[in-house]
Amino acid sequence: MTSNNSISMATPIMPTYSRFPVTLVKGKGSYVWDDKGSKYLDFTSGIATCNLGHVPDAVKKTLEEQLQNLWHCSNLYHIPNQEKLAALLTANSCGDQVFFCNSGAEANEAAIKLARRYASKVKGSNSVQIVTFQQSFHGRTLATLTATGQEKIQHGFAPLMPGFSYLPFNDVASLEELSIIKPAAVLFELVQGEGGVIPAEPTWVQKLSQICKENDILLMVDEIQTGMGRTGTLFAYQQYSIQPDVISLAKGLGSGFPIGAIIAKEKVAKGFEPGTHGSTFGGNPLATAAGIATISHLLESNILTHVKEISVYLDQQLESLKKKYTCIKEIRGKGLLKGLVVETDALAIVKKAIQYKLLILTAGPKVVRILPPLNVTQEEINECMIALEKTFQSLEKGE
Ligand SMILES: Cc1ncc(COP(=O)(O)O)c(C=O)c1O
Repeated sequence: MTSNNSISMATPIMPTYSRFPVTLVKGKGSYVWDDKGSKYLDFTSGIATCNLGHVPDAVKKTLEEQLQNLWHCSNLYHIPNQEKLAALLTANSCGDQVFFCNSGAEANEAAIKLARRYASKVKGSNSVQIVTFQQSFHGRTLATLTATGQEKIQHGFAPLMPGFSYLPFNDVASLEELSIIKPAAVLFELVQGEGGVIPAEPTWVQKLSQICKENDILLMVDEIQTGMGRTGTLFAYQQYSIQPDVISLAKGLGSGFPIGAIIAKEKVAKGFEPGTHGSTFGGNPLATAAGIATISHLLESNILTHVKEISVYLDQQLESLKKKYTCIKEIRGKGLLKGLVVETDALAIVKKAIQYKLLILTAGPKVVRILPPLNVTQEEINECMIALEKTFQSLEKGE
């Protein structure tokens, strides 16, 4: 915009986010620094993305090496890093084949497209319905916001995509409807992250899996937030004795480098043929280098065991905080995906914590969400607790 133009613009960025008054310029491990040199303890991990902490050495080195060789090439050619990452993902999950993309929404889009094509072209069925669950979050594209069981995310974007319906989460009785609807697939989270850090009940998951098997319905898990070690196993589904047909991933897969993926059983992956789906950047050499380094570190270090142990410590600390502050009603979650259900305004708590140099998140109006990096230390958790104490004390005093 030229200087003699009278229209003033506050920022050249579209207003899709309400941003906190912090400008981050540097990160290392569990810490980030702002443009004025202030240091913050980052218990958001870039919303469950920097699972190995900021700028992790293992991934940094691999990316630096890949930067010297090849950044991008088309999916019209073979990409060795892609094949290596797919091999790692399939060897460590119940899936057989992988499609790569760039984000969580794209991963779920791919899952939805695959489910529809599998139903129509492989099964020869005309039931292409997808069932998802209330309070879920699956992304911001048109199909994935339709899949998302929250009206506030869908508001203003009508007409939504046809072919979606919603059931209550964790409600065993309503699952019987699936044998009447007979959808192509169900898509669900094992801990509803954005929807309020609500873990799926094992009995509900078992029943869902059983009904899907009996009715030839694809079981698709959205592990975009729960995956990559966040809950103490590489994927959260591994704690539920189920075998999903499709797993969608993104966030932590590239340690902050954009990458998404779906892993599917071979019979389901047959729904895709050359020309049916694609992505220019999907699985490019740089993104898949980040993925290989991330997964290798998760598998070869003791980090998954560490998550199981340290999350018990975090739970204990949060439970003692709850005893001191009556506005905290419940601590819930799985592994290092934790929610504090509060009576007060969760956003006010998150804003106040920034004053004490702690970054945390909300998950809806009444839940404070805590997502430390997976290699978080006991000392860093203690530091978080001191900042949380100051936050709650200050709010109690009405400051
Ligand atoms: C469970 C889940 N699915 C999908 C998404 C969408 O991912 P992205 O923002 O990368 O499109 C998110 C993002 O928060 C998520 O938590």
